[in-house]
Amino acid sequence: MDYGRLFDMSGRHAVVIGGGSGIGRECALALSAHGARVTVADRDADAAAHTCALGDRLTSYELDVLDEAAIATAARNLGAVDALVFTAATNVRKRIADYSVDEFDRVVSLNMRASFNLIREFGKVMAARGRGSIVGFSSIRAVAVEPGQSVYAATKAGLVQLLRTAAAEFGPSGVRLNAIAPGVVETPLTQQIRDNKEWYDAYATKSALGRWARADEMAGAAVYLCSDASSFVTGSVLYVDGGWTAIDGRYEPPN
Ligand SMILES: NC(=O)c1ccc[n+]([C@@H]2O[C@H](COP(=O)([O-])OP(=O)(O)OC[C@H]3O[C@@H](n4cnc5c(N)ncnc54)[C@H](O)[C@@H]3O)[C@@H](O)[C@H]2O)c1
Repeated sequence: MDYGRLFDMSGRHAVVIGGGSGIGRECALALSAHGARVTVADRDADAAAHTCALGDRLTSYELDVLDEAAIATAARNLGAVDALVFTAATNVRKRIADYSVDEFDRVVSLNMRASFNLIREFGKVMAARGRGSIVGFSSIRAVAVEPGQSVYAATKAGLVQLLRTAAAEFGPSGVRLNAIAPGVVETPLTQQIRDNKEWYDAYATKSALGRWARADEMAGAAVYLCSDASSFVTGSVLYVDGGWTAIDGRYEPPN
């Protein structure tokens, strides 16, 4: 066993959807740094192109994952795909009593429906080829909530079960599916929180590490789950949350 090549992605093709921003951008750059050819897909073509300018072997691809037909076309036309990472998601932070059905539909359409279509279309193509790794982004909100997280939290928990079932169905064909569950990460998605110092600080102190994560701190988990280093890992959830879900955090008892 050549352990020096455990995380090597040379000769592999990875597709990162949501690669124009935040965590997706860092995953794309990390996979390319480990040798992969990376397709950076995003609804925002300029953002995807910007990611591509930051590394090697990166090609941009305009894709709106709310367009079901476009996902099927991408899965057919992108050629052999060894790894798919998808990050596109949205959150409307509001109490249930104030939530509209339109807002519910907006969050579920992107976080759940699009994820389902991605897993189905890319899973089928990978299964036909007999190999592949699919990585979706869940959240600490799949297991720990606060007021205002209802629909987002439900989609992030739902995504885990979707990936686990897909792991059961596609596993015999050599396709692995896993979730990464980040804690709080400094990206455009969390700008609303970072603009409020009290909210920002409260989140920082909640984790065992006492701070927010940078987006690049999610990339190691993605490279691990896409590479042969995780060849026997499927149906799992990898928490990259600075200890958020491990500790209660309400009170520090005196020594
Ligand atoms: N940032 C955090 O603190 C945090 C915490 C837990 C989980 N997560 C999860 O991590 C993932 C990535 O989050 P992020 O903070 O990097 O988000 P982000 O908002 O920075 O990036 C999302 C990317 O998805 C793209 N996108 C949005 N809608 C799209 C569509 N319809 N089709 C194609 N692309 C689309 C956007 O253009 C953007 O480039 C999400 O699933 C999020 O729920 C993030």
